Amino acid sequence: MKTVLILSASPRKNGNSDTLCQALAEGAREAGHAVTLIRLADKRIGYCTGCGLCSFHGKPCPIDDDARAIQERMLGADVIVLATPVYFYAVCAQMKTLIDRSSPYYERMGGKTFGFIMTSADDDPACMDRTLEDFRGYLACLDAPTEAFALRAAGLTHPGEAKASPYLAQARALGRAL
Ligand SMILES: Cc1cc2nc3c(=O)[nH]c(=O)nc-3n(C[C@H](O)[C@H](O)[C@H](O)COP(=O)(O)O)c2cc1C
Repeated sequence: MKTVLILSASPRKNGNSDTLCQALAEGAREAGHAVTLIRLADKRIGYCTGCGLCSFHGKPCPIDDDARAIQERMLGADVIVLATPVYFYAVCAQMKTLIDRSSPYYERMGGKTFGFIMTSADDDPACMDRTLEDFRGYLACLDAPTEAFALRAAGLTHPGEAKASPYLAQARALGRAL
């Protein structure tokens, strides 16, 4: 049994990436894992201000919001799934904001398994190369991470389209295989 944390970054509840997160969660629960799915848009997560308190003085982040609890949950997870819609060929702002708030935590985030879910309107999966590099930039800062999968769900524009796509079954299978 693994502890699986899914962070769904889209501001669209039940949108395409959120739907794929739910399918992955179902698969992972079927496999007997303990799964938590958090929608970042439901949380209050402020920008890192670069104050340096954490990185230069070893102090906790002075911003008192939901990022702390999410980062603590990440520290407690075996598997972390990061999901984002493609926004201007990058991760969306909600995801980037959470990643930037990793400064006080990333040095303790070693040895974890990560999976990525990306959705785009563009129907060429290769359009998500840049977005994937955003995620990989975060992993490059961690100690010995494992990248388990990167699901590139291309050609999805309106909410609901993911449900009728082959990506739904793929996401469920990825969850089951964790
Ligand atoms: C602000 C914004 C920027 C977007 N930029 C892109 C883009 O650069 N390339 C693309 O293929 N789709 C782009 N899209 C479309 C979304 O990636 C697509 O609709 C996706 O399925 C949304 O996922 P969601 O339902 O999980 O939010 C953009 C959408 C928005 C709202």
